[in-house]
Amino acid sequence: MCKDLISKIPFIKNESVNFSDKNFLKNHKMNKMKILLICLFTVIFSNMAYTQSRTKLDFDSNWKFVLDNFTNYSAETVNDNSWRTLNLPHDWSIEGKFSKDNPATVGGGALPGGIGWYRKTFTIPASQKGKSFFIRFDGVYKNSEVWINGKSLGVRPNGYITFQYELTPYLKYGNEKNVIAVKVDNSKQPNSRWYSGSGIFRNVWLISVNKLHVDQWETFISTTNVSDKAATVNINTKIKNQFSSDKSIVLNTSIYDASGKKITTSSAKANVSNGDADDKNSEEIKQSLNVKNPNLWSITNPYLYKAVTQVMLNGKLVDTYETNFGIRYFNFDKDEGFSLNGKPLKILGVCDHHDLGALGSAINTRAIQRQLELLKGMGINGIRTSHNPPAPELLDLCDKMGFIVMDEAFDMWAKPKNPYDYHLDWKEWHKRDLEDQILRDRNHPSVFIWSVGNEIPEQGGNPAKGDTSGRVIARELVGIVKSLDTTREIVTANNDVSNRNNIVLSGAFDLVGVNYHHDLWGKLHDIWPGKKIIVTESTSALETRGYYDLWPFDSIRRWPTRWDKPFTNPNGGYTVSAYDNVSAPWASTHEESVKALLKNKMVSGMFIWTGFDYLGEPTPYTWPARSSYFGIIDLAGFPKDVYYMYKSVFTNKPVLHILPHWNWKQGDTVDVIAYYNNADEVELYLNNKSLGIRKKTGDDLHVKWIVPFEPGTLKAISRKNGKTVLTAEVKTAGAPARIVLKADRNKINADGRDLSFITATIEDKDGTTAPRADNEIHFKISGAGFIAGVASGDPVNHESFKGSEHRALNGLALAILQSNGKKGSITLTATADGLQPATIVVETK
Ligand code: GAL
Repeated sequence: MCKDLISKIPFIKNESVNFSDKNFLKNHKMNKMKILLICLFTVIFSNMAYTQSRTKLDFDSNWKFVLDNFTNYSAETVNDNSWRTLNLPHDWSIEGKFSKDNPATVGGGALPGGIGWYRKTFTIPASQKGKSFFIRFDGVYKNSEVWINGKSLGVRPNGYITFQYELTPYLKYGNEKNVIAVKVDNSKQPNSRWYSGSGIFRNVWLISVNKLHVDQWETFISTTNVSDKAATVNINTKIKNQFSSDKSIVLNTSIYDASGKKITTSSAKANVSNGDADDKNSEEIKQSLNVKNPNLWSITNPYLYKAVTQVMLNGKLVDTYETNFGIRYFNFDKDEGFSLNGKPLKILGVCDHHDLGALGSAINTRAIQRQLELLKGMGINGIRTSHNPPAPELLDLCDKMGFIVMDEAFDMWAKPKNPYDYHLDWKEWHKRDLEDQILRDRNHPSVFIWSVGNEIPEQGGNPAKGDTSGRVIARELVGIVKSLDTTREIVTANNDVSNRNNIVLSGAFDLVGVNYHHDLWGKLHDIWPGKKIIVTESTSALETRGYYDLWPFDSIRRWPTRWDKPFTNPNGGYTVSAYDNVSAPWASTHEESVKALLKNKMVSGMFIWTGFDYLGEPTPYTWPARSSYFGIIDLAGFPKDVYYMYKSVFTNKPVLHILPHWNWKQGDTVDVIAYYNNADEVELYLNNKSLGIRKKTGDDLHVKWIVPFEPGTLKAISRKNGKTVLTAEVKTAGAPARIVLKADRNKINADGRDLSFITATIEDKDGTTAPRADNEIHFKISGAGFIAGVASGDPVNHESFKGSEHRALNGLALAILQSNGKKGSITLTATADGLQPATIVVETK
């Protein structure tokens, strides 16, 4: 048992998988006493008195890496001594230089692709002979091929899909070395409409199990007859038998509540016929368990149960597998919209791409969690994984934090959007990729909708002229999903909102997804009678954080004038005002979209394009702009003003936010906007003189004053029943004088992965943020960490995200500190010419 426990302790730095030898203790700085204590503690206190007979080891550390478009490094013996050593997840594109000439194109983020090779050497102790070993990649962008000891295990073109290979037949044991080689080919460009990143950008796992085990994709848990009083939990488990003879097993499945208390158990007997590693025919065992008075999963109560599956052979435990799940019921209604556990709920979601700003596409759980925290803070309750399968960690977090996920598979089918995109792999891979996505993700309670495509070109096409592809593929994809999961809705995100849309006409979908066209949302039943409706994509408003054009707030711009026309800002430059009065021409401002959502009951919800700015697609511009303007939150994670509009409408947390800043020229006339809630009115004062009281009426989402500028203090007071609720101030700032550093977390885990996000604010001598400061900030770090990225949210900045300096945008810059695995502290100092420097210390525990 202790051995099993040891294997549960996260290995961050495993070079070798030798978990029974002395070096393990030395490598992981654990002494025997500690291990014994953990064992004792677990035996005494755990309600879950089961042993673990499988291991899933983090296989991310100590890989060798080289960029090389010409050489083949797949052989067992390659001298990789001179290669770089790194830990995964890794994205090499983000380390490159921005250039408009990079073949990825500006839309794809203007960073380099190419071919990269990864190699990892490891040993497996002789004691592990007889076990089955698998390597699992959560995502490799793209066109990967994997070798073990010189033998090719397979190729996988899709850059976002999870795949695994069995290693057992090729492994060597004891002191003999094994080597995994991975070729990643992202050289054929353009292959994406947004920044993809390149490399093994998600986690890698080494899984070891006994010959009789729960098969890949493990269990399928669904719940039926759910109410407050009871629920039936259906658990289907696939068992694989790699012995040479059939085996009789007992399968014990127990459900534990979130406190770890066992609530119910079921036992089943089965005969499992033998099959080798490639045999697809594993034995499926179906069990149903009843849970009384279930604690229902919701966005405010994301309650998770755990199913523990134990496979017993001749009275001995041979495999244990754990699955988190939730119990909830929901409905999409064509007239009433969405409801969760019997209560109506508008889904207020965001679409997001997978990049994590300065970290690129290399996933980091804390970075995703920070994004979700920021989104939750403004009332967002849904995530669309546009336009590809996400990292599994995102779904785990959505389960735990309470988000409604639309889990998306494809951005195109057989017809291309870019010359080298997935359409080339469509024929051979789409079935397998879609199946693997559903199988991997179908136990997540946060997943409510499968999306099988975004703005698919096959919407068009004339069936009368023989092009029936839209209808045929739509039906095929829905068939694939339904063969694996019938408990969720399936959609495509349609930009052809007409009764000629072949995908909708296929009849395969009950829930129809609409992108944009907010003026049509109330009339969709005229176009598609009887369909349930969700806005799969809305808004595409444009803003640069902290930048304002002094046009009247209500004068709405559509930039560019047409999607395919080049655009030049009439003021010059590459900014877009953050007043929420600019959107793409196919789209709408945030307020226009929110109003249309709230007005139309039948619309189940909408997914705003986008929660965060992302790399690539710098609409309305192109080079030198290199990242998007669509986010409610910028690329560094700093909210734009409209964040507070959402917060004021979709949360109960008290809000009073005024914009813009107060550094203007004498003679300027400035529209001052306030977003507020929990109050009847807001009064605005300039240098203590009242500029009047304003109240939202009708469907207003803000109040406004037109103010002739004079320097000083602009102060807003919100009141309810005459009593002050909140005050908000902006002051005219003097010259930039100092840097102030603030961490989102002052203590982080010393696990080699955890992050602290440090905001550098440039202030004047009195502590007012200098709203236009763009000083070059130099970061210096010492201690138990490194700088994982620097950013400012400026879409036109071409400095490296991986450097140690960055120019601030409108008073702010960001440094992301990462633990290096050691306990202690990290000290970060920020300096800039002419500014008083600042230092901050983050503890690593
Ligand atoms: C949509 C598309 C998104 C993104 C967006 C920008 O049409 O689905 O991927 O390109 O436009 O407005």
